[in-house]
Amino acid sequence: MQEVLPEGAVIRKLWIGETDKYREHVLRLDPESRRSRFGGGVSDEFIRNYVDLSTTLDAIVHGCFIDGELRAVAELRPLGLGFARQAEAALSVEKPWQSHGVGSGLLARTLLAARNRGFHRLHMACLADNERMQQLARKFAAELSFDFGSVVGEVESSRPTPMSLMRELLTDGHGYAAAVLDLQSRMLRA
Ligand SMILES: CC(C)(COP(=O)(O)OP(=O)(O)OC[C@H]1O[C@@H](n2cnc3c(N)ncnc32)[C@H](O)[C@@H]1OP(=O)(O)O)[C@@H](O)C(=O)NCCC(=O)NCCS
Repeated sequence: MQEVLPEGAVIRKLWIGETDKYREHVLRLDPESRRSRFGGGVSDEFIRNYVDLSTTLDAIVHGCFIDGELRAVAELRPLGLGFARQAEAALSVEKPWQSHGVGSGLLARTLLAARNRGFHRLHMACLADNERMQQLARKFAAELSFDFGSVVGEVESSRPTPMSLMRELLTDGHGYAAAVLDLQSRMLRA
């Protein structure tokens, strides 16, 4: 699937020490997106605790930086003991950047990471009225099968292949190189 992102957008895994950026991104979500992301209205305090906790868990977090600012995040978290090879995925894109391909780019990276870690089942808790998330999920129907309402996707090809591992390595390398170039060009502009 071809990736189309807004100009100035770079997708990469978040680095250690970027928890503040993650927290600020989630706090910036408008009330409707916040409700969709967490399945109901949540307070700022809830979000602060949530981000602190999720960065201490085994989460794989991809972020989309637009002009150097973290504007969207996708989280992949193993469900842990008793739920072998199952993980939960959750996405958030700030309103002005929704419907510009960012969610698609993030979900593609998340599915690749899930596959390479051997996850069989990927849960996506999604409100029944969340049309956009369901449309986004349908785009990946070749890799996932869905049960709408609360969306539960199943990673069809759960086995990592040399090619899927290489794709993840390449996208990480590209994300790093693009981040360095982005930083350099913003420093030159300043
Ligand atoms: C749901 C969400 C992650 C989708 O990300 P996004 O960047 O807006 O999605 P994309 O631009 O990649 O669009 C994905 C698909 O959704 C559909 N879509 C886009 N805009 C839409 C809209 N306004 N209404 C319905 N469907 C829409 C399209 O099918 C699109 O694919 P296409 O452009 O190839 O046709 C994002 O909107 C978001 O963060 N919403 C608030 C939080 C949330 O709902 N999180 C999900 C809970 S886990």
